[in-house]
Amino acid sequence: MKILVTGGAGFIGSHTVVELTSEGHEVVILDNLSNASRKVLKRLSEITGKQIPFYEADIRDRAALTDIFRKERPEAVIHFAGLKAVGESVRLPWEYYENNIGGTLALLDVMRSNDCRNIIFSSSATVYGDPAEIPITEACPKGTCTNPYGWTKSMLEQILTDMQKADPAWNTVILRYFNPIGAHKSGRIGENPGGIPNNLMPYITQVAVGRLEKLHVFGDDYDTPDGTGVRDYIHVVDLAKGHVKALKKLAPGSGLSIYNLGTGIGYSVLDIVRNFEEATGISIPYVIDARRPGDIAACYASAKKAKDELGWEAENGIREMCEDAWRWQSANPNGYEED
Ligand code: NAD
Ligand code: UD1
Repeated sequence: MKILVTGGAGFIGSHTVVELTSEGHEVVILDNLSNASRKVLKRLSEITGKQIPFYEADIRDRAALTDIFRKERPEAVIHFAGLKAVGESVRLPWEYYENNIGGTLALLDVMRSNDCRNIIFSSSATVYGDPAEIPITEACPKGTCTNPYGWTKSMLEQILTDMQKADPAWNTVILRYFNPIGAHKSGRIGENPGGIPNNLMPYITQVAVGRLEKLHVFGDDYDTPDGTGVRDYIHVVDLAKGHVKALKKLAPGSGLSIYNLGTGIGYSVLDIVRNFEEATGISIPYVIDARRPGDIAACYASAKKAKDELGWEAENGIREMCEDAWRWQSANPNGYEED
């Protein structure tokens, strides 16, 4: 299948491009490089042995999108492009709504004008809010988000749902990611946050590489086995493979489907620290700090629906996630700045 990957130079997008290409799909990448490096493209061609067409373009730019659709004629879009920093979204709500919602509305409009109504959308476990039940199934009601980023995902899910209902020619897959970590086994592509990382694993790898002094554990008084927050960490390559499997839900008449992509296993912050130390032999100094506003105690998926309907399940365990995150960070201590 010929697939346009928006945000394909980013963390999850770049790993998905590798898996799509290795399954024989034809890929075109669109990215405005607002949170990605052009160097990813060279590394993708190194890993895949293919020159993947790349357009430096913005999803809010209808003229550019129209040109790309007319030229490339993609059959489907995997839509990763968006801003994703939770704290930043609290400071810059207009920018998040405009980029994520405005951009997606422009994309959907150009898609239907060009007779392409197959889309896989990157959503997040954040739409469940403080979940009504754990493990979280897709039947669990959406909740109250604690930040504008989360609301963009929740609102975009609603927009996609309403559009599919109004025009059943749309085949729509919404994937709710849990916590993607790890990196490609080659160590050539990985997560490259700008500034001080907000998320746990990149923070730990930057402590390990000596860029940061110690980890701050946000609260040890949650109602969890060791008091620290519990999450469902998933290897980014497994997540990427989930997208390849989800393509089958874009067959004509598929309608709209929603899947959790997680492992179904919850690890606490201190479990992650211990597993990272065991996998790498590097000790991670930490201090216990106050809870981070907006955090919940525990969040992990039921991954059963994706297994039953897509034939997908995560293959990598926490050890591989830690090893691969470290291989990437240690080989690229300053991300893509090296070459
Ligand atoms: P990322 O920032 O690495 O990738 C997003 C890419 O989109 C970047 O390369 C950025 O340059 C590009 N982009 C942003 N706005 C754009 C625009 N207007 N036009 C064109 N390109 C634009 O993030 P990621 O971690 O790879 O996340 C991919 C998607 O998955 C995002 O939609 C994110 O919200 C969602 N998601 C991520 C996580 C996570 O923990 N990483 C969890 C749940 C959902
Ligand atoms: C974060 C986002 C969420 C997004 C998800 C995807 C926030 C508030 N939420 O969720 O919207 O969908 O990523 O991966 O950012 N922790 C520390 N110290 C740190 C960093 C994190 O103790 O320096 C703890 C957190 O309190 C949490 C766990 O580690 O218990 C995981 O945090 P993080 O990696 O930021 O992910 P989430 O909070 O689950």
